[in-house]
Amino acid sequence: MSGTTTEANAFDRSPAGNARLRGPVMCVVGARPNFMKMAPILRALAAHQPPLPALLVHTGQHYDQGMSHQLFEDLGLQRPDLDLEVGSASHAVQTADVMRRFEPALDAHLPACVLVVGDVNSTLACTLVAVKKGVPVVHVEAGLRSYDRKMPEEINRVLTDQIADRLYTTERSALANLLREGVAAERVVFAGNVMIDSLVAHRPNARPAADTLRAHGVDPAWLDAAKGYGVVTLHRPSNVDDAAALRSLLNVLREVASSLPLVFALHPRTRNNIERFGLSSLIDPRRMALLPPQGYLEMLGLMRDATLVLTDSGGLQEETTALGVPCLTLRENTERPITAEQGTNTLVGRDPQAILAGVAEILGGAGKRGRVPEFWDGRAADRIAADLWQWLGPGAP
Ligand code: UD1
Repeated sequence: MSGTTTEANAFDRSPAGNARLRGPVMCVVGARPNFMKMAPILRALAAHQPPLPALLVHTGQHYDQGMSHQLFEDLGLQRPDLDLEVGSASHAVQTADVMRRFEPALDAHLPACVLVVGDVNSTLACTLVAVKKGVPVVHVEAGLRSYDRKMPEEINRVLTDQIADRLYTTERSALANLLREGVAAERVVFAGNVMIDSLVAHRPNARPAADTLRAHGVDPAWLDAAKGYGVVTLHRPSNVDDAAALRSLLNVLREVASSLPLVFALHPRTRNNIERFGLSSLIDPRRMALLPPQGYLEMLGLMRDATLVLTDSGGLQEETTALGVPCLTLRENTERPITAEQGTNTLVGRDPQAILAGVAEILGGAGKRGRVPEFWDGRAADRIAADLWQWLGPGAP
């Protein structure tokens, strides 16, 4: 048995339990959207009085310069203390690899708790390992539900929330979702949106869109002076892994681009599939600039300066709401309903007519203005650190 932490748990006031309470908060990141959520949390743990020691584990789910390293730099994230280097694979293999490699790390470091963010495979994998070893798990961004079980992220969310010990939510509707699934209200704390903490901190340093385009060999004069440009991101398996769905979306984007130039930041999954399905000819290079995955400051600048954003990303739905930029979400559902109810987001799905109508509305000046939701104020991570300190108990850590 390699499990040195099996017997202890954070509520255990025995000597073994107290030893655990003095361990670090073991913070897990794996994929791109995790990094902007974790950066403010690590800062808040360090700034808390007294400081809460933390250890950063990168599972290596994302590993490219563009998908990982550049974001660490942009966000001022410390180098990971541990890199599990799992890389890409099927869901089963990737999840299993994270679990196998995370277990000895957990045994070696006796953390006070494991802190996971979001809904990626690494989130669930590390949660499962920790919970079965009796190590408390804290989930940041809990309770979001698309109610679409075909999304891998939805499975990760539901399962993580069922077994994690402390759940921090970004919007009040998340509590109702959790209660519906039988989660006890005492486990849930409304803390706000840590992704927006990063946005608030870095907005002043966002790179102007014209600079980013120039850096990729695109003449900024290319942007239609009257209407500006639109930003596009697509990477959901339901949109890009199916040839017919991707073809249909690229056709609509082509039509949108005839009235508004588009800047398309391509996820590797999407780039591979456009090539694999032979769809490259649907991209009109005169009206659509294809860029590789962007750094955080570049993406922030591209969104901030845009006329509209077309996306299937969860993070961009939130960021456009915080920036006040109209967003059309190319999905049938969202796990972030507040962005549509209060923010600038409109769900248009994949129906070409609905997408074109949404674009026409925004270009006609009738796009949603929205407001910034409660606790999307740049202080969510501070609220989490303060609560965590209380929750871990007087001996912590
Ligand atoms: C993952 C998350 C998704 C998140 C997205 C953000 C899950 C289930 N999905 O999806 O919720 O919105 O990250 O990007 O965890 N690849 C590279 N370089 C990398 C990483 C991936 O080229 O650094 C390529 C590989 O071909 C890989 C593919 O992208 O097979 C998909 O990567 P994967 O991590 O499996 O899922 P994402 O689609 O990125």
